[in-house]
Amino acid sequence: MVLRDKFIKKDSSEEESVLICSSTHHMLQADRLLRQHNFKVELVPTPRGIGSACTTAIRFAKNLKEEIKDVIMATDIDWKGIYDIEKKNRLEDWKDIWNLEINSKFSRVLKKIAKDEVLNISEIKTLLKANRESELEALFLAANRIREEAVKDTVDVRAAIEFSNYCHKNCNYCGLRRENKNLTRYRMTEDEIIKVTKEIYELGIETVILQSGEDPWYTTDKIVKIIRRIKEEFGMKITLSLGERTKKEYKVFKEAGADNYLLKIEAANKDLFNQIHPDDNYEVRSKHTKWLKELGYITGSGGMIGLPSQSIEDLAKDILFQKKYGIHMIGVGPFLPANNTPYAEYKSGDLITTLKVVAVMRLVCQNVFIPATTAIASLDSEGQEKALESGANVIMLIMTPPQLRENYEIYSNKNMVDLDWAVESIMAANRKIPEYLNLDKLNRIDRSEVDARYTTG
Ligand code: 5AD
Ligand code: SF4
Repeated sequence: MVLRDKFIKKDSSEEESVLICSSTHHMLQADRLLRQHNFKVELVPTPRGIGSACTTAIRFAKNLKEEIKDVIMATDIDWKGIYDIEKKNRLEDWKDIWNLEINSKFSRVLKKIAKDEVLNISEIKTLLKANRESELEALFLAANRIREEAVKDTVDVRAAIEFSNYCHKNCNYCGLRRENKNLTRYRMTEDEIIKVTKEIYELGIETVILQSGEDPWYTTDKIVKIIRRIKEEFGMKITLSLGERTKKEYKVFKEAGADNYLLKIEAANKDLFNQIHPDDNYEVRSKHTKWLKELGYITGSGGMIGLPSQSIEDLAKDILFQKKYGIHMIGVGPFLPANNTPYAEYKSGDLITTLKVVAVMRLVCQNVFIPATTAIASLDSEGQEKALESGANVIMLIMTPPQLRENYEIYSNKNMVDLDWAVESIMAANRKIPEYLNLDKLNRIDRSEVDARYTTG
């Protein structure tokens, strides 16, 4: 049988193009249509240089361009254009990196990144194995440059409300697990959530993250009401982080106005995933991730570094998972032992490995949001600043009311990242504070100090 072009599996070195539509609705319609026509297409974060990291594009092999155009033109799908993904060559620009003392295997892989070539798992492992000072320097430098090219210098600041610490699951690593009887449980009311959202809105922040344990007490209707009120009263972007829900619920939340959904894979090695999640299943979590994308969410995922028995190969798989599923927002942080859990006595993930994963994630996934997570800040007080220097570009504030936040103890000794802390980290990393932030709300930092740094020159 002769295979037509569109059935041929793309090989990783092949040139690619993307289709961009005028809205998510049209994008999803185009994606469905092209799949029905048996084109091999993928929903991905819009590639660097073509659009913003928080939008989605449809990617396919460049040789399908004309055929795809014909199919789309025969419909009323509102599309903006088809763009070739440009491959850059940065070998010249990265001369300083090649001058560092790095071994030839390591340098060969970094050179592939410099030429925009796709890495395989063993090449990703080579980068993750960096341990000489000069190799780490090269890795972080390269990641920082790709970060600058893809998402520029401004650090996006978002804020989370941890509105319930009830959870019906029993993940082995997490302090909110249902068998932890030593935790004072709380649930915030709709009005309490709205009140905190208002405080976040007054900080100038544009995205609120509603996070909780898996707590069915918040029924579909309750969540929908909260989403609607936030949209009506503040018009903010909403990220939901509620754990696994049904496909129908994801759809209803999306229609009510939710923009983003954060559902971490935690560990992309199936056995490891199943070992740490007694109530969950790797296939189910992956399927939910796929649903979220198909429903038009900007999706968040990520995982933990330093889990018991996790290998370098596992970390490489974590990175490839995010790439394969076209994740927009990738949160990685060290595993931190939580009191009263089966993993309470295990040691924390280490900072350097975490920073390496952040860096390689940036090199592989490029035009995505990578937060400098609270877990990194909790492991090391300069951790967030270091993560920003290794490829990260987002900070999430914790805005849970002070009397409740100590009970959102997913791990012990959690750092409380507030506006001042975030601004300090951004300044320490020599990056830009977003213009939307209301710096009048700073408590500890002297406002004039910030202005002096950012308004001159
Ligand atoms: N260490 C680090 N991160 C943790 N999380 C939960 N428990 C831990 C832990 N012990 C993170 C996971 C999860 C979220 C609720 O918090 O990534 O998705
Ligand atoms: Fe619950 Fe999430 Fe913690 Fe698992 S990781 S116990 S689902 S809050």
